[in-house]
Amino acid sequence: MLALPSSFRSASPDKIFPLLRLYNAGMAEIMYGKPVADEIERRVRGEVERLRARGVVPRLDVVLVGKSAASQRYVGKKMEFCERLGMQAMLHTFDDHISASDLRDQVQRINDDPAAHAILVQLPLPRHIEEPASGVNKFDVFDAISGRKDVDGISRETVPELYRAQDERMLHLPATALAVRRMLEFYGIETEGKVAVIVGRNDITAKPIHHMLGGRMCNATAIWCHRYTRKADHDRFMRTADIIVTSVGSERYRITADLVKPGAVVIDVATRVGADGKLNGDVDFEHVKEVASFITPVPKGVGPVTVAALTENVVRAAEFAHGLRQPGYDLAPSRDAHLRPAISS
Ligand code: GUN
Repeated sequence: MLALPSSFRSASPDKIFPLLRLYNAGMAEIMYGKPVADEIERRVRGEVERLRARGVVPRLDVVLVGKSAASQRYVGKKMEFCERLGMQAMLHTFDDHISASDLRDQVQRINDDPAAHAILVQLPLPRHIEEPASGVNKFDVFDAISGRKDVDGISRETVPELYRAQDERMLHLPATALAVRRMLEFYGIETEGKVAVIVGRNDITAKPIHHMLGGRMCNATAIWCHRYTRKADHDRFMRTADIIVTSVGSERYRITADLVKPGAVVIDVATRVGADGKLNGDVDFEHVKEVASFITPVPKGVGPVTVAALTENVVRAAEFAHGLRQPGYDLAPSRDAHLRPAISS
């Protein structure tokens, strides 16, 4: 990919983007997660050291229900990452027959412990808690976590802040949304006024990413596609998108090159293990990279940034608990970010 001539850096964004697309035609910049995760890790490590010097060791409490190997692996990774950065991680395991109301009470008990700064209930939960016909369900479990401890950003107190979408009021952005935001920031991708299509309807990935991109924080025109979107509409929206974020994780779903506008930014949040045992996303990476301007790989894309973003939230939670932080994130406005040299190869 060619570097952006310095004379372009003072030009208006609307003039630069079409020119960049011409420059970079035929080859996307690969948005690897590692440098973004490393930058977060460096910052978090420093913050943990400062907290430890004051006698505060940030602590993440993880609630794991059942014995899913995938969930055990994810949880292990998150806890290991926290510990590697000098934080504490505690695991609370429950049998998958636990009732929704008992789980809610257990989460409430953990929440009431002042030593638990940050709480995460690993998803998915068993079906009788995710989708009961009536009564207590997963949302009641999430709501047992107070907003300042809710590092997944899914409780009654954190969701409204995302809906209102004011950076300075945010308690915790869900880790995947924060990871996408940090990726956009790092790779200098502008969102304001862009058409962003988000695919999927997951409570902790696609849904918050849709609100984040369409809200005051990112100012994109956000279009949300999900299982009830007609295929013709999905394909039509997709072809208008400047930014695509997909988080479905199903074999049936594939973002193919014919759906992607030349020069679009393609971010693949999905992970699923294919029949070949390999980790795949939703995007046909090999072909889409020929059309897009920026694209994340799977693996090595958003995944490592999501784990790092979680540790960022755990530190925030510890700082909230000790009165050392006010709500709000320190995020560079992406609207000017495309003027940074990072856009060159
Ligand atoms: N399962 C897969 N990803 C996540 C996540 O980010 N948070 C929770 N709580 N569960 C998950």
